[in-house]
Formats: sequence, structure tokens, C-alpha cells
Amino acid sequence: MLTNLKPQAADALLALIKLHDADPRCDKIDVGVGVYRTGQGDTPVFAAIKAAERRLLESQTSKAYLGPEGDMGFVHALMPHIFGRADPTRGGRIDGMQTPGGTGAVRLALAIAKRAGVKRVWMGTPSWPNHAQIIADLGLELKGFAHAKPDGTADLAALLAALDEAGAEDAVLLHGCCHNPTGIDYAPAQWDAIAPALQASGVLPLIDLAYQGLGQGMEEDAYGTRRVLAAVPEAIIAYSCDKNFGLYRDRVGAVYVMTGAADALPVALANGHALARANWSMPPDHGAAAVRIILEDAALTRQWLDELDTMRARMLQVRARLGAAGMAGKLDLAPLATQNGLFSIVPLSGPQILALREAHGIYMAGSGRINIAGLTMGNIDKFIAALAEVGAEAPVAG
Ligand code: LMR
Repeated sequence: MLTNLKPQAADALLALIKLHDADPRCDKIDVGVGVYRTGQGDTPVFAAIKAAERRLLESQTSKAYLGPEGDMGFVHALMPHIFGRADPTRGGRIDGMQTPGGTGAVRLALAIAKRAGVKRVWMGTPSWPNHAQIIADLGLELKGFAHAKPDGTADLAALLAALDEAGAEDAVLLHGCCHNPTGIDYAPAQWDAIAPALQASGVLPLIDLAYQGLGQGMEEDAYGTRRVLAAVPEAIIAYSCDKNFGLYRDRVGAVYVMTGAADALPVALANGHALARANWSMPPDHGAAAVRIILEDAALTRQWLDELDTMRARMLQVRARLGAAGMAGKLDLAPLATQNGLFSIVPLSGPQILALREAHGIYMAGSGRINIAGLTMGNIDKFIAALAEVGAEAPVAG
């Protein structure tokens, strides 16, 4: 039987990690997978997480099962940060459950939507490649629309046209902030137009909020999500703590469901529990427990937010430096200064991306996506010079 299985292409982003690790050049640059790095190129454990882990080690008395919903203290402690301090449950209409990372949250959000009758998912493209993979794996139809305009701003008209065409049995998957892979977010005024359009369309909004705090700030990055939730009756939010708490390999996420009436919420969540049970049974505990300990302690919460501020400030500094470079060959880097979060796309062709890897030891995704945090004040000049070199001659693919 097993010989019937078809060969699978390696996941391009994850394969890039291995390619980079195997490169012996000391001045290689990794702008591939979306992991935050300091100005020294490290991905350290947050000091707030270390402190919380020490407390966890001292205080945890059992590792017995918690259930498919995971650590509900963690799930609830996050809610004021995501949904706002004033009525984070929207009158008892929002609750959630823990998931293995943001990917587990997206998977569960889409699986719950499918159980609720969704057949088709609209999504702005390009998007994080795993979105399309999960949609396909669930047997849902994917309909794409343009996420961004050539001038580097979000294409509101394309989304509104998609919502116009969409109907019953449709969902739309939106990035709450720090759009992966473009870094191009809907501006607050655009969210103000999206929210009533979503409400009028009757389409189920699914919001992937994987980078809160890494764009403009914790409150600012929640604007779109909160604006949508104020307008629509129902929505599902997939949340990740992997980036904003630096817990990548501990896989810390949550899915939140908002129902039209509070009495519909337990059934919606029970479907999430049943799906989790059949997939991973229970989420891993450690990282979520550490996040809960932070969020239940004002001093640790302050420390975590300060660390997040430092990360965001560093990325803004890198973005400013890239933007100030202006043209690198035929590549205009100026828009990178106005985009958000870990990612931006540099419009390079496949051969140009390969040339950057082979001649300069620069590793980036095949889409031309770069991880802003892979650049430091020590390597950014080399990066810009290499872009200017490969971008000088060959035609640039759009
Ligand atoms: C990324 O896009 O690089 C990250 O979200 C890591 C991943 O799982 O793809």
C-alpha cells in the first residue's frame, strides 16, 4: 500500500532553513523563515518567558491531562490583549481554546468553518503558503483575490469586489496584521470599510492574527480584528503566541469563536474540542502555561511588552534603513519602510533569488519574501549591495 504514495516536494520555507545551515560561508544572510533575530543575529528566549518558566518549574504539581481545550487560564488571559479590555467576550459571545501553535489555530478555524457549512474560502494572494495547503487538505475550494496593489498598498477594491461576489457557504481568510508575506496591511480607514462590507456580505470572517505587537503595537495591531468583530455577528480568530512570545518550537496558539448569540457558543466550541480530539487530542502545555504566568502577573506582563517593544523598534530601524537606500539596481526599496512586521517582498525573479543565494549567501523564500529581522546593522549594507548587483541587469519579475 505504502508504495502508492506520491513523492512530496519538501516545504520550501522549511527546506531553506536546512540549505542555510549547510552553507559554510561566515557572512551568509538568512532572510528566510519568519523567526525574529536580534541585532546580533540571535533568537533568544524572552527574559519574561525564562522567569515564567522558573516559576512554572517550582509551582507545577502535575502534568495530568487538561483536555482538548488546553489551558483555559491562558486562553482567557490573552483575551483583553486581543479583543480589548472593555468587554473582551462581547457579552459572552467570544470564547476560545488552546491550539498547537498558529498553524493548529488556522487548521481548527478552517475545520470548524467547514463543519458549519463553509465550502469555499476567499483569500488575498499572495498569502502564507500554508494557508492554501490547509484549505486544500480540508477539501475546501480556494478563491483568490489580489491582496496588494503595485504601489505597495493594500488592494481594498479587490477585497470588496470579492465580498460582493461571495455568498452563502463562503468564508474569507484575512490577516489581522503584519501580512505574511507582503508586510502590507489594510490601513485603519480600510478596515472601517471592510467591516460593514463583511457584515453586508454574510461571509464568515476568519482572521489569522499571528504577529500582534510586531507591527505598530499591541493595540494598533488589533484594530482590524476589533473593527470587524464590532460589525459582524460571527467570526473565528486564529491566534499565535509563537512570534510575539518567541515560543516557536513550543507551539503556542489559540482559536477564538464569536457566535451571533451567547447560547450558540458552547456548541461551536464543542465542535472545536471534538476536532482537536480527533487531530492532536490535547495541545502541548508548557509554552501556554508560561504565557499564562506572564499575563497573570503585572510585572512580567510589563517586561514582556518591553521586550516586544524592543523587537518592534529594531525592525522599524531595519525598515527605515532599507527604505532610505531607495533604489537597489532596478529595485525600489522605499516601500519597505512603510510596511509592517517581519516580512516584505522584494520583487525578484527566480534566477535573481538563486543568484543571491549562490553568489552572496543570501537565503530568501522563492516568492522574494524577506525576513526583515534577518538583517542587522552589520549585514544590511552587504544585502543592499547584493540586491543592487542582481537587480541591475536581469529583468525584474513583478
Ligand atoms: C513563516 O512564514 O516563515 C513562519 O510562519 C513559519 C512557518 O511556519 O511558515
